[in-house]
Amino acid sequence: MSKFIIKPGNSLKGSVELQGAKNSALKLMAACILVRGKSDLYDVPQITDVEIMSDLLESMGISMTTNAPGHLGIDTPAHITPYAPYELVEKMRASVVVLGPLLATQGRARVSLPGGDDFGHRPIDIHIRALSELGADFQTSHGYIEASCKRLVGKRIVLDFPSHTATDNVLMAAVLAKGETVIENAAREPEIQDLADFLIKMGAKIDGAGTSRIVVQGVDTLRPASHSVIRDRVEAATFIAAAGLAGGEIEICGVRREYMDMLLEKVSQMGLVVESIENGIRVVSNGRLRSVDVATLPYPGVATDYKPLIVTMLSVADGAAIVSENLFAGRFRYVDELRRMGADIRTQGHHALIRGVDKLSGAQVRASDIRAGAALVVAGLAADSATTVLGGDHIDRGYEKFAQKLSFIGADIERVEE
Ligand code: EPU
Repeated sequence: MSKFIIKPGNSLKGSVELQGAKNSALKLMAACILVRGKSDLYDVPQITDVEIMSDLLESMGISMTTNAPGHLGIDTPAHITPYAPYELVEKMRASVVVLGPLLATQGRARVSLPGGDDFGHRPIDIHIRALSELGADFQTSHGYIEASCKRLVGKRIVLDFPSHTATDNVLMAAVLAKGETVIENAAREPEIQDLADFLIKMGAKIDGAGTSRIVVQGVDTLRPASHSVIRDRVEAATFIAAAGLAGGEIEICGVRREYMDMLLEKVSQMGLVVESIENGIRVVSNGRLRSVDVATLPYPGVATDYKPLIVTMLSVADGAAIVSENLFAGRFRYVDELRRMGADIRTQGHHALIRGVDKLSGAQVRASDIRAGAALVVAGLAADSATTVLGGDHIDRGYEKFAQKLSFIGADIERVEE
């Protein structure tokens, strides 16, 4: 286990370069199941979740190589084992995105059912219903989904909710289906557009990715391709929050402003100055933040992944604010840890009322998931004394060199292996 020790006091200054997006890289890796031969991915973040996805693909018989940091060569043989075991799916829910590509190429898949997690109940009914509509049969037994199909057949599918990974799964299944698939109410995240761009390089025919209506003309085969992962907008939000909490002026390189409009609008209302620079943004923090109400929504709304960071900023902002969570009912677990640091937060159902305090109080706290962990680390920047964040392994799942990057822009932070 690792922990992060943060000592407050330094304002931030300097420039950070964003890593590749976790929530794109994992799907691009799964997409390599769709071809025979070697694909190359660049700017893949060096994080634990990528290692878990590598382990999963290797367990199927796919070879993984690397010739430089951030590069992954993914070589898919003709025969793979279409099996995702409990041990790996339990570690990472995103493993479920192998379901669509396995059905499309192997006609069968045995994938462990992901359980609930710290966000609460997280079903995969939308994935299953949509893949069934394309012609897959599903049975569940002994904790596993057993799926099988002949060649999938394109259809108009209306998703109940614009689920991110369900859209990934259906898209990767539809590219090799017979005929046209239309995905209505598709998720619109930039990472879905990135996945579609990679699939198009492989020879897929896709229109409308990044909008709520994706149209796919199925093809018979795809070929290996090379692709660079887009940058991680949640990592960008983390550095924005760090600047808001520690004060100072930083440049974040690799940010696409148009992918973060709603968040940038909110943090501007909170008092941060966000300016465009050649390859990203400059964030300037001029004193105390102001409270604003925030509600999470599917993209392009304010992402649920930003919420722990926003709640942390509001904990030391002037005034009071209500934050409403509209995606994951259980995503307030870190609030107890922020309270232990002196934050004044009351939660009721999916709402939190946050009354800003002058300063947080340095304490020993524990990360419960990736984003909660990152939020507790940046909370330490606004405390009156040192903060220790236990459970650093959660943070390593999604952030590459987190402590190094923060210390590079002036934070006093250390990562300690226990
Ligand atoms: N939902 C269902 N049934 C389904 C699928 C989803 O009811 O079959 C519900 C969920 O319970 C939730 C809502 O739909 O209430 C949205 O969930 P979604 O499926 O969009 O989430 P996800 O695809 O499982 C991805 C990201 C998460 C991010 C969410 C929301 C990946 C690997 N994960 O999860 O990222 O929070 O979208 O934007 O892409 C993270 O990076 O730390 C992370 C958790």
